Amino acid sequence: MLQILRAKDQTQFGQLGARLIADQIKAKAQSVLGLATGSTPIPLYRELVNLYRSGEVDFSQAHSVNLDEYVGLSPEHEQSYRYFMQTHLFDHINIRPERTHVPAGDCAAQDCGQYDQLIRDLGGIDMQVLGIGLNGHIGFNEPDDRFIPYTHRVTLTESTRRANARFFEDKIDLVPTAAVSMGICSIMHARRILLLCTGEAKARILYDALNGDITPRIPASILQAHRDVTVLADEAALSLF
Ligand code: GLP
Repeated sequence: MLQILRAKDQTQFGQLGARLIADQIKAKAQSVLGLATGSTPIPLYRELVNLYRSGEVDFSQAHSVNLDEYVGLSPEHEQSYRYFMQTHLFDHINIRPERTHVPAGDCAAQDCGQYDQLIRDLGGIDMQVLGIGLNGHIGFNEPDDRFIPYTHRVTLTESTRRANARFFEDKIDLVPTAAVSMGICSIMHARRILLLCTGEAKARILYDALNGDITPRIPASILQAHRDVTVLADEAALSLF
């Protein structure tokens, strides 16, 4: 089942998204949250911090597993996804540090399976937050000839590196060429999925992903086969719906 929530502005977008996550934690204190980076979830994490500060949500029993990490950036690097999660969320809430997991950017190919084992050991993901790339990627599952099921190393496409250059002084050469990403099966096994999308630039890919054929050329299209997806988007991103 696919449900679409339409936010009228960034504030409402953040509030609706944070509320969904807070409700998940309230329903199951030890929830495993699958978390995403990128600019899209920032308002949601900000609101989640506000909800925590006002005593409305308690993360002390929760776990988190992040979708992806760049290869070659240390956790202290300002553009690493570990650093992103610390500064936007983890440092401001009471989740226990040892219960937060981000794939290791230096993960050797043969060790990637440990991340999937970790997710299984935690009992699976209760709610997976996703953004969507301009080319339809989820996590760093780039358009390909096939869906890659489990955690793997990816070579980033030129378009993704260009899109993310804004975080690297607008210099594409500074953007890592590879990443480690959770695979499509791990994402699809999540009990609930919250897909976030904002901005006019993503209107076409969001529409195609949710209404076109299911194809590894648009990795997010696989979400049509999931039984509990909530799409939270703003008016601009939903302009073709
Ligand atoms: C990034 C991340 C994704 C993210 C997407 C969109 O490269 N790997 O997890 O969802 O691209 O990012 P943004 O929200 O900044 O547009």
